[in-house]
Amino acid sequence: MSKKILLVVIVTTLTVNITMFYYKVLPEWRNSLLLKIHNSVLNNDIQYDVIDAYYQSNYGSCQHSVVRENKINCKKLIENETPMTQIIPVNVSRICNLTKITENCQLFRHINGYDDKVITQLEEDFPLAFGIRLYNSPEQVEQLLRIIYRPHNFYCIHVDTGSDKSIFNSLKAVARCFENVVVLSKIRTVYSSIRLVEADLLCMKEALKSSVQWKYFLNMAGEEVPLKTNLEIVQICQLLKGRNEIESEPAPYFAKRRMKWGYNLTEFEMIRTNVLKKPFTGNVRLRKGCAYGTFARRFVQFVLNNDKANDFFEFLKDTYAPEEVFFSTLNSVGGAPGGYNITIRNSHRDFLSRTILWQWNRHIMCPGKYRRTVCVFNNKALPWLVKQLELIANKMDGDYDQVVIDCMEEYLRNKTLQADVTGFNKMRYLQYPHIKDLHNRNLWDKI
Ligand SMILES: *[C@@H]1O[C@H](CO)[C@@H](O)[C@H](O)[C@H]1NC(C)=O
Ligand SMILES: *[C@@H]1O[C@H](CO)[C@@H](O)[C@H](O)[C@H]1NC(C)=O
Ligand SMILES: *[C@@H]1O[C@H](CO)[C@@H](O)[C@H](O)[C@H]1NC(C)=O
Ligand SMILES: *[C@@H]1O[C@H](CO)[C@@H](O)[C@H](O)[C@H]1NC(C)=O
Ligand SMILES: *[C@@H]1O[C@H](CO)[C@@H](O)[C@H](O)[C@H]1NC(C)=O
Repeated sequence: MSKKILLVVIVTTLTVNITMFYYKVLPEWRNSLLLKIHNSVLNNDIQYDVIDAYYQSNYGSCQHSVVRENKINCKKLIENETPMTQIIPVNVSRICNLTKITENCQLFRHINGYDDKVITQLEEDFPLAFGIRLYNSPEQVEQLLRIIYRPHNFYCIHVDTGSDKSIFNSLKAVARCFENVVVLSKIRTVYSSIRLVEADLLCMKEALKSSVQWKYFLNMAGEEVPLKTNLEIVQICQLLKGRNEIESEPAPYFAKRRMKWGYNLTEFEMIRTNVLKKPFTGNVRLRKGCAYGTFARRFVQFVLNNDKANDFFEFLKDTYAPEEVFFSTLNSVGGAPGGYNITIRNSHRDFLSRTILWQWNRHIMCPGKYRRTVCVFNNKALPWLVKQLELIANKMDGDYDQVVIDCMEEYLRNKTLQADVTGFNKMRYLQYPHIKDLHNRNLWDKI
């Protein structure tokens, strides 16, 4: 078969598959509202006015979209190349009674756009698992979920046990509407403590228990927003060929020093004691990186089951900021599935899992405000954000600026509806050091 014919066959097969799936995910329609939305979905043009009217008449103060209520044109905000304009003043409060809006699951799923995503065969064959940790803002987490939700993926949400009980209950109400969403609340997370890792591990365990044969696990915070569609995330993960995507550099002096004395984990913070800590006996070379990453399935199994991994976890329990050490170090341990010794640094712009602007990293100004030394993006960041190659942005906060989140949602939604499998620019990703060497040497880690 000539290359040309082969291409035509592939494209045709894909188109047919996309179309078939597109119809498959649209279930029975019961009443005229659903029918109206159904028709508008088929026209690729959601009748937001219908949805907004429904929200207003049924859910009172619960806003569906701040940008639409305030008639903000996201396209213009995104395309505006002189982004340093005044931040748009809007009423951002998005207080929604999630328990109420999820009483009718079918309606909830439809009007929040959970069911009308276009899913390609490529994505169906490459399921993902997400673990989301949160302390507050359940409405923002619901919005995050509806951005990343696909029926063939797996989602685990961990609510801090110190949060208001209503937060857990409202997310439980959301999860009730899905077979592939699990909500847990087992751990009181404390800033810079092992508890953050523990919450991630719990979600990893849930993910492995699920029947979804996911290939990569992405841990997230509730205040993060993806920059890429599910399709693009899958295409990027495929370039990793079974390798992890973890920020990792030899632990600097200050990180090693954090392991010299034991820390006492109290209810709210880690307090340094004067008790000298015995060094880890397991012969690992400490590495440091971001707490968030993209983990191959086999690496997740290794992290949960390997003896050295378990010992290292025990060792880290009384250290400061172990979440910056745990995955980064295990990624370089001999025999770690998908692991590597290549140094990957956010500051060198070669860490793919996150766009994150640290206050000390002065080469890019923060389009937003710093909180705990991390940039919280506002809508001025939009033109910049959509150009980034990373998977997910850390962080966004709807109480500070809902517009940036709503516009990212609209942007990703439009892209998802296009389901453009061929639009992905692979070349730019092949430049990353931990991807480049795989492709140069034609290595393939078994997924
Ligand atoms: C925000 O809401 C307050 C009270 O509900 C109202 O007075 C104000 O005009 C609103 N501001 C904007 C920008 O819509
Ligand atoms: C949210 O809605 C539920 C169900 O309608 C209701 O029982 C509950 O009281 C509401 N909560 C608040 C805070 O209004
Ligand atoms: C650690 O905290 C416990 C109480 O939570 C206390 O009994 C113990 O003395 C503390 N250890 C050190 C070394 O400060
Ligand atoms: C990283 O380097 C160390 C020391 O050379 C080696 O033992 C280990 O196997 C390497 N790890 C990986 C994942 O290649
Ligand atoms: C998304 O698509 C709609 C309908 O075509 C369009 O009006 C809107 O401007 C698009 N938004 C963005 C952010 O591109």
